[in-house]
Amino acid sequence: PYPFYAELRRDSPVAQVDPGGLWAVSRYEDILGALKNPKLFSSAGLRLAAEPPWAGRPNPMSASIIFMDDPKQHGRLRGLINRAFGPTALARLEPRIRAVAEELTTRVLSRRQVDFVEDFALPLPASVIGTLMGLEPELYPRFKQWSDDIVAVSVTQPGDTELLAQYRRTVDEMEQYLSEVIARRRKTPGDDMVSDLLSSRIEGEALTDKDLMGFLFLLLVAGLETTVHLLGNSARLLAEHPDVLARLRADRALIPAFLEEVLRFEPPVHSTMRLCTEDTTLAGVSLPRGSVLALLLASGLRDERYCADGDRFSLDRKGPHNMAFGHGMHFCLGAALARMEGRVALEVLLPQCSALARRSEALEWNLSMTVRGVRALPLEVRP
Ligand code: HEM
Repeated sequence: PYPFYAELRRDSPVAQVDPGGLWAVSRYEDILGALKNPKLFSSAGLRLAAEPPWAGRPNPMSASIIFMDDPKQHGRLRGLINRAFGPTALARLEPRIRAVAEELTTRVLSRRQVDFVEDFALPLPASVIGTLMGLEPELYPRFKQWSDDIVAVSVTQPGDTELLAQYRRTVDEMEQYLSEVIARRRKTPGDDMVSDLLSSRIEGEALTDKDLMGFLFLLLVAGLETTVHLLGNSARLLAEHPDVLARLRADRALIPAFLEEVLRFEPPVHSTMRLCTEDTTLAGVSLPRGSVLALLLASGLRDERYCADGDRFSLDRKGPHNMAFGHGMHFCLGAALARMEGRVALEVLLPQCSALARRSEALEWNLSMTVRGVRALPLEVRP
């Protein structure tokens, strides 16, 4: 449970949590209202999390669609990659995801004592995003370190020299690597998203290097970090609820409902940020122009006004709880892909696995204002 969020929802649904101007928004309706109004609540707020002024290096992701408010500019760019995440493309990808899930299941069952993040939750989405983008499999383990470093900058203070130096090294390394990928695809196009983006035209114009780099950073970070946590949280909740695991094994048609409840109960994007472009009010609270809002999706999805007994994990709720993927123009581009990865992973793993047991009480959580999940998940996987 998140008792502090329950307190905020009850007493102070729009609360100033930092004198510098950060406000926490904790009720479902208020979060939804802000997400629906990009003119007043700008995605520029995410900049505070993505590239705080003391980071010392612009984050190439800032040039990407997730930061854009102008529906025309956003729609034109998003339109370029929509198709890669549509039903036809996903149906083509499914057998590949199943093959990777089978390989990983064999591996975790033969080892039995595993770190579920390193041995399953990470390699599956890394291989999916790597395949989509046409990247080298040897580098898949590095992707996670990269996206961890990129999202960790959101919790830094100006004096955090080590974390900030690591962030800058990672931005440089990713930029260099992705520039090489772009140069290679320019010379020899392949069947991948980088080649597709290189050949795309908007009103006759090719994408600028900045737009292209922004896209690739966004896809690598947004496509990986979040899905790793969806799979990791799923395994953790199955270890905590053996009755649920038994029900899913008996009836695999329940898997989608289980995933929706995991997304509601422990959304990988715990909060997102918005900036007030004008003086305004939310839930009766005056917000001066320039205020930054942390929209606490994790709190909204447990809001008693929205769902009864929200701190209880239950397979019998009626979903889907789409807000875990955002709402409105920035609704997650990869939602259907992430749901498919989760479904296929469990369809493959569960018939072969009778129980998951936690091997240590202490869990190490990642560092981030926006994305939340465990770094490692020591589990025993029983056949
Ligand atoms: C946007 C969540 C997986 C790509 C978002 C947003 C959320 C989200 C909440 C909206 C952020 C905002 O409005 O501030 C998730 C979760 C995932 C997941 C919980 C997994 C369980 C993926 C995957 C991809 C992806 C697999 C791609 C490979 C994107 C992109 C955007 C986005 C490109 C920006 C869309 C736009 O600005 O129009 N995601 N995501 N996500 N997500 Fe995901």
